[in-house]
Amino acid sequence: MKISVIGVGYLGAVHAAGMAELGHDVVGLDVDARRVRQLEAGRAPFHEPGFDETLRRGLDLGRLRFTTEYEDIAGADVHFLGLGTPQRADGFGADLASLHAAVDALAAVLPARDGSPTLVVGKSTVPAGTARGLAERLERIEGVRLLWNPEFLREGFAVGDTLEPDRVVYGVRDPEAADAEIRMLDTVYAPILDGGTPRLVMGYEAAELVKVSANAFLATKISFINAISELCEATGADVTDVSRALGMDDRIGSRFLRAGVGFGGGCLPKDIRAFIASAEDLGVGQSLGFLREVDAINQRRRVRVVELAREMLGPLRGRRITVLGAAFKPDSDDVRDSPALEVASRLMAAGAHVTVTDPEALKNARGHVEGLVTVEDTAEALRGAELVLLLTEWRRYRDLDPSVAAELVAAPRIIDGRAVLDPRTWRAAGWELRALGRPDAPAPAGTQAGTAGQPAAHEPPAAHEPPAAHEPPAAHEPPAAHGRAAAASTAGPDPAAPLLSRG
Ligand code: UDX
Repeated sequence: MKISVIGVGYLGAVHAAGMAELGHDVVGLDVDARRVRQLEAGRAPFHEPGFDETLRRGLDLGRLRFTTEYEDIAGADVHFLGLGTPQRADGFGADLASLHAAVDALAAVLPARDGSPTLVVGKSTVPAGTARGLAERLERIEGVRLLWNPEFLREGFAVGDTLEPDRVVYGVRDPEAADAEIRMLDTVYAPILDGGTPRLVMGYEAAELVKVSANAFLATKISFINAISELCEATGADVTDVSRALGMDDRIGSRFLRAGVGFGGGCLPKDIRAFIASAEDLGVGQSLGFLREVDAINQRRRVRVVELAREMLGPLRGRRITVLGAAFKPDSDDVRDSPALEVASRLMAAGAHVTVTDPEALKNARGHVEGLVTVEDTAEALRGAELVLLLTEWRRYRDLDPSVAAELVAAPRIIDGRAVLDPRTWRAAGWELRALGRPDAPAPAGTQAGTAGQPAAHEPPAAHEPPAAHEPPAAHEPPAAHGRAAAASTAGPDPAAPLLSRG
């Protein structure tokens, strides 16, 4: 089929390459001419495992092109809308300006068609009610039908999530009278649906709500365990013990129950805020009032890391601090609302000399924080540090050898902001280790998991709770060598890795 994808940011670029991979004839459109040139040259504008290959394959096979001109996409059968919906500058709500501008520009070039309809398929994350409004405008053109088909892809797993999603959701104006457009989108996704992926048809508003509810639920789950983490800090409990035991309850599940410095990125933070704003606009603000607390808990974790640094060093002015990680999560170069970078900025504001290292995100980080000192090589970044903060759990940082690292730093002090290091090993190597939600010193013998024959927090999950194939590997696990997880690997080897990594 002839397909266009309007807006080739993270979501749109991966979707365009994914649709070419399914065998369609795809044109990606963006108003950003630089990005279009980059994609056309086969250069990925962001770090996403597996994307470069998919992009190049589409280009080489002649199935994928990019343009800035709406005339070039006018004749497509299906137009996907992959525009970003960032947080508004003046409040919590979603900024839909680029989505509306794209729909206006598209409407101006869409030819009237009889016979098979022209489909416009929204993928952007939007407040409930948006699709119905857009349909009013678009469906005035003969033969045009709008579907809302939210995207659930995760950075680091975006290609796999596009080609093998958990489910496909179609939002339509009237589920009883949408056969033609449903059949048409089924044709687009045929290889995915033939593989057994469930497809759910519902009204526009339900489809819009599925997406924001999913992100709100995930954010809530993370903030829940981080709230428990605060309780752990007050009582001397270890949050990794609590999380592990909670996760073994099938009704709760272990995914998104990792405590630490919290969630960031281009989706969860802005989506929960947009959801709050949307509920208020609908007159049911009370319903999502708890999401304000979810946001507040998340923000508090960032502040807590800085407090911990002060507890360890005293006044921060002039102290040399190394931050391991700049991306909002491993396997990504995205620094939008990154907890690691916010902590680094706060430390800098307190007068510390901060050095940040990350395998992929340093270029973006420099563009985000003025005056940020970045060092690519881990060993070099560690050299002379009076305090180290692990804030993004890239494999190379989880695997650091504490004895080798101790030789490099000026003083062996570390804050584990993702609860991924084994405190006993690090302390045995001479490190003063503090971790969010974990006791400052080993509890008396026999009272701690791991000392009483219990699996320690750094051990793999119990056999009955395997991570799903599409789940990002938990911090303590090696990435799976098969399925969708295989697409996600840590970035190329760190020159210092052989020196620093344990076994
Ligand atoms: C998220 C949703 O998962 C995805 O479905 C949606 O389409 C877009 O938003 P993404 O932003 O790529 O995806 O990141 P995700 O893997 O969800 O992680 C979000 C943040 O939560 C990261 O900062 C991560 O470090 C943090 N996190 C995740 C935790 O702090 N604890 C956890 O247990 C899991």
